[in-house]
Amino acid sequence: MAGDDYRLPRTVAPTRYQLHLEPDLDAATFTGLARIDLDVADDVLEITCNAIELEITEAQIETQEGRTSSATWTYDEALERVTFTFAEPVSIGEAVLHVRYQGILNDQLHGFYRSTFVDAEGQRRTIATTQFEATDARRAFPCWDEPDRKAVFEVTLTVPGDLAAYSNSPVVAERVLDDGRRELTYAPTMKMSTYLVAFVVGPFEATAPVDVDGVPLRVVYPVGKGHLATFALEIGAFALRYFSEYFAIAYPGDKLDLVAIPDFAFGAMENLGCVTFRETALLADPAQASRLSLERIVDVVAHEIAHMWFGDLVTMGWWEGIWLNEAFATFMEVSCTDAFRPEWQRWVSFGIEKEMAMAIDGLHTTRPIEYEVRSPDDANGMFDVLTYEKGGSVLRMLQQYLGEDAFRDGVRLYLQRHRYANAVTVDLWNAIEEASGQPVRQIMDTWILQGGHPIVTIDGGVVTQAPFAYGPKGDGAASAIGETWEVPVLARSLTSGATTKVLLGTSPVDLELGREAVLLNAGGSGVYRSAYAAADAAALVPRLAELSPLERANLLNDAWAATQAGQMDLEAFFALGGALGDDGEPSTWQSVIRALQMCSRIIDDENRAVLEAATVRLLGAKAAALGWEPVAGEDERTPNLRASLLGALGTLGGDRATIDAALSRFDATDPINPDLVQCVLEIVGDQGRAGDYDRVLEHHHHAPTPQLEVQYLQALAGFGTAELAERTFELCRSEVRTQDAPFVLGAAIANPATGAATWGRIAAHWEELLGRFPANAHSRMVSTVSTLYAHPTVASEAIAFLTAHPVATGQQSVKQSLERLANNLAFAERIRPTLVEVLRRVAS
Ligand code: BES
Ligand code: ZN
Repeated sequence: MAGDDYRLPRTVAPTRYQLHLEPDLDAATFTGLARIDLDVADDVLEITCNAIELEITEAQIETQEGRTSSATWTYDEALERVTFTFAEPVSIGEAVLHVRYQGILNDQLHGFYRSTFVDAEGQRRTIATTQFEATDARRAFPCWDEPDRKAVFEVTLTVPGDLAAYSNSPVVAERVLDDGRRELTYAPTMKMSTYLVAFVVGPFEATAPVDVDGVPLRVVYPVGKGHLATFALEIGAFALRYFSEYFAIAYPGDKLDLVAIPDFAFGAMENLGCVTFRETALLADPAQASRLSLERIVDVVAHEIAHMWFGDLVTMGWWEGIWLNEAFATFMEVSCTDAFRPEWQRWVSFGIEKEMAMAIDGLHTTRPIEYEVRSPDDANGMFDVLTYEKGGSVLRMLQQYLGEDAFRDGVRLYLQRHRYANAVTVDLWNAIEEASGQPVRQIMDTWILQGGHPIVTIDGGVVTQAPFAYGPKGDGAASAIGETWEVPVLARSLTSGATTKVLLGTSPVDLELGREAVLLNAGGSGVYRSAYAAADAAALVPRLAELSPLERANLLNDAWAATQAGQMDLEAFFALGGALGDDGEPSTWQSVIRALQMCSRIIDDENRAVLEAATVRLLGAKAAALGWEPVAGEDERTPNLRASLLGALGTLGGDRATIDAALSRFDATDPINPDLVQCVLEIVGDQGRAGDYDRVLEHHHHAPTPQLEVQYLQALAGFGTAELAERTFELCRSEVRTQDAPFVLGAAIANPATGAATWGRIAAHWEELLGRFPANAHSRMVSTVSTLYAHPTVASEAIAFLTAHPVATGQQSVKQSLERLANNLAFAERIRPTLVEVLRRVAS
C-alpha cells in the first residue's frame, strides 16, 4: 500500500463534531449519533473519513441550502475508512454530515473499550472508557482521524443512572430520562485533534475539586479508592502552576480530571482535561509507597499535564512528529519533578536513564529519532526508548548547551506561534534559534535525522569523534548508525576547574588543555560516549571523587559499553567498580551490578562461588555500611541504593546473612518497608522456599495499594522451578490483567533458571498471546529474549522465530532485541575463557 493511501482527501474539513453516545456496559455495545459540520472545498459526490468496527445504520447530508438527503456507504477495512456517496453533489461551502451507528466496547484496551474491577463488596463492576491515540478514535465515531484535522467536540453521553461519566470538558446540561438513565452534555472543547477526545463511564467517584488559579482539578477513581487520591492532587496542582508559568500561557482547558482506569494499555494518556492513567501511575498511599513509586506518579502526572500545552494546544502535523511530542513531554516532566522535589535529584536519574536508549542506539538496527510514518502500525511503533529517552536527552543536551533561559524563550515563542494548530519539528528549532541566536537546526538535524551517537575521545587535550557501535555490522547488512554529529562538547579541567564549550564536528578540536586532567561530558547531559587515551585516563581516574554523581555514573556506563563492545577488558571495568569506595550514587553501583548479572548468566555452576565472592568483595562494604534499616535524615536516594546492593548481595552474592534478613522480613507479619519490598521479593523468589509462591500470590490478591499489587505479581516471575514457571505462564494466559501479563512474561523470560522454558511456551502460544495482549506490549514482552545468551540453541531458535513471526507494532524494537541477543552471545563467548580467573582476582 502506498504511504499516501493512509491520508484522507483534503477536500472536506470537519470543524465541529456533535457526538451523542449511549454505551450499554453489560452488552458491551454502544450506539452513536454523530453530527459533523464540514467545510467543503470542492463539489463532491463522495466523502471519505475513518471508521472501523462501526456499523453505520443511517447517514444523511444536510447542505447549506437546508436540504437533507440520504447517503449510501461502503467500508474499506484495510484502510479503516468509510466512504459516503450522495445522489447529488455536495457543493462548495458548509454541510452537515449526520451518521447513526453502532459499535462494540472491545477488550483490547483501545478505541471505546471495557475495563472491569472487583469492588469492596466482591462485585465485578464494569467501566466503558476510551484510548484513542494514535488512531483509534475511528473505533468510537466516524472521523477525520489525523492529528492536523482539528475541530471542536461537543459530547453528550447517555449513561445508567447510577454511574458517573466524564469527558474532556465540564457538564453543561444534565437530565434524567424516563428509563432512569442520565443524559449529560459537555461544553464544547477547544479546537483539537481527534486522538485527544475521551469518554469515561462507570462506578467512579471524584475528589472535591481543588481550585488551581481558576482551574478545577480533581482525581477520579473507581469507587472505594479515595484514600489513594491525595498525592496525585498535590502533584497535579503543582504541575498545572509550574507549566502555566514555564510556558507563559494559561492552561488551555476548562477543568482537569486525572482519572484512574483499572485496565490501561499505557502508563497514561493526555486527553485534554480528562487525562487517563493506569492505577499504579496515579493512586498511592504515600505511607505505604516506595520513594521510587511516588516519583513515578509525579513523573507521569507531570508528563501528561505538560502535554496539555505541548501536544494538545500545539500538535504535531503528522505522526512522525510523535517523537517531539513525547520527547518534549518527557523533558518537561523531569523539569517539573525536579522543581517539585529537588531532593530527588531527578536530573541525575534522568541523565542515567539515557543509558537505556544508548544501549539500543549503539545497535545497527537503531533508527533515527524522527523517521517516516505511514501506517497506524508505524505510528504506534514509534513509542519506544529512542523517542522518549533519547529524544528527551537530546533536548536536555541542547538546553544545557544553549542555557536554560534561551531554550525556554524559544519554547514559549513556538507555543505562541502555533497554538490551536499544528507544527513540525523544524518549527521548534526555528523558534529556539530565534531566541538563542545559535545554529539549532543544524545541530539538531544531526541528532534527529540519523540514528546512533558518537564516541568522543580525548588525547592530550585534542577531541575527536567516531560513531559508536557495540558490534560490527553483519556482512552486507545495513546500519542506521550515522557518521558524524554536531556534538556540543562540555569538558572540565579538574586541574583548573574551568569548563570549555565546543561544537565538535568532523575535524579534531584542540581544547588547549595540554596534559591537564580533563573530564569529557562535564555535567553529564551529552548524548555520547567518552573515551580517554591512556595518559588522559591516568590523570582522571585518581580524581573520580571530584566528579558529580552523574558524571561518575556516565563514566562507569561508558566503560561498561566499551567492555561490551570489546574496547575495554572486563578486569579494567571491575577495577573502576572497585574504586567506587563510598560513592552514594545508586546508578554507579547499579552499573557494577548489571555487569555482575551478566557474568552470573555466563559462569558455570561449579564456579558460582567465585562470582559470589567477587560480588561480596565489590558490594559488601557499602551494603554493610548502609544496613537494612533506613537512617532518619538520610539522602532521599539512599533507600534505592540500599535495596539495589542488598538485592544483589542476597542473589548474586549468595550472602547468607542478607538472605536470612530478607526472608525474615518476608515472614514477619509487619508490612515490609516499602523501599525494600522489591529487593526482599527478589531474594524470596531466588530462594524459592516451598509455599512462598502461594504466599506471594496471596499478597498480590490482597494488596492494599496498586503498586504492591503489581510488585507481588511481578515477583512471581522470579521463582525459578519448572513447575512454578509453568504456573506463572498459565496465570498470564488466564486471570492476570492483560495490561500486566506481558510484563510478567517479559520478566519470566529473564529468569536465569526458567527463562528458556518460558520462551518456549510463549512461542508455542504466540497467536493466542498476541491476540490477548494489547498491541503496544507485544514487543516489550519479548524484549528480554536478549537475556537468553546462556543458551545458544534457544537463542538461535528465538532469533529465527521472531524473524519469521514479526509483530505488527514495534517489530523494529524486536529486531533491536535480537541484535542485542547476538551481541550478548558474542560477548559471552569472548569473556567465558577468562571469566573465572578475572573474577578470582576481583574477589581477592
Ligand atoms: N501519549 C502517551 C500515551 C501513548 C503512548 C498513547 C503510545 C498511544 C501510544 C502518553 O503521554 C505517555 O507518554 N505515556 C507514558 C508515560 C510517560 C510518563 C512516559 C506511558 O504510557 O508509558
Ligand atoms: Zn507522552
